[in-house]
Amino acid sequence: MKILFFGDVVGRVGRQAVKYFLPKLVEKYQVDFVIANGENVTHGKGLIEKHYNELIDNGVDCITLGNHYMSKDTIMDYIDDATALVRPLNLSKRIGGSGSVLFEVNGVKIRVTNILGTAFMKEEVSSPYYSFKQLVDSLGDEDSIHIVDYHGEATSEKICFGYVFDGLVSAVVGTHTHVQTNDAHILENGTGFICDAGMCGAYGGVLGFEKHSVMNKTLYGDKSRFEIDENATPMVNCVVIDVDEISKKCREIFPVTLVEKK
Ligand SMILES: [Fe+2]
Ligand SMILES: [Fe+2]
Repeated sequence: MKILFFGDVVGRVGRQAVKYFLPKLVEKYQVDFVIANGENVTHGKGLIEKHYNELIDNGVDCITLGNHYMSKDTIMDYIDDATALVRPLNLSKRIGGSGSVLFEVNGVKIRVTNILGTAFMKEEVSSPYYSFKQLVDSLGDEDSIHIVDYHGEATSEKICFGYVFDGLVSAVVGTHTHVQTNDAHILENGTGFICDAGMCGAYGGVLGFEKHSVMNKTLYGDKSRFEIDENATPMVNCVVIDVDEISKKCREIFPVTLVEKK
């Protein structure tokens, strides 16, 4: 089973990048199932229903979230009906939706779970470890591929999570930093791992945003909002994961970066 995982999709440029590259990647790597982190899809923060539908229409099978899960509060209007949406599992608030969703592709079950990290993050969440252990225990002998989107700032936190649940899930893919890491590997007991899948959006900016709008804040403390350069060159950062359909262990995991030529 080949799974394609897009890092945080940022704004219209990110949506355009996914639309452009998804079919090419699906064909090249014979992908069966596509996951995208959607927390930045609507102008850099949050996800409105129109853009949720746009990603699904363009071939994404599952959309995960992160700390920006509520940045567009209209998500409350559709979260319970969005069957392909996975919000963070370990939120303290009750917001509806689900933090772990089971899909089925060609008779094979694929579970996708979204976890929010705690290091350098402001959201009120329960322990990622405890929440996830509870989930795993509740699944009993469910025979599914299990992909975890661990949305967090600290690489060490993600690495520890990978070790703790090595062999219990098929892959742990980190998101949130918007920078793809070069550490994709398979852990001792068969769990594929990467600290961060990266970002889909504007090439040459800062984390998907126009570089001067970010630098003005960083250098001069400007309160101005981060802008998205709508004319930027689209880029995707993603991860290809191959999982054995019988053992549910990872056979291969590697990152891919593609920049659209203009
Ligand atoms: Fe995030
Ligand atoms: Fe993000």
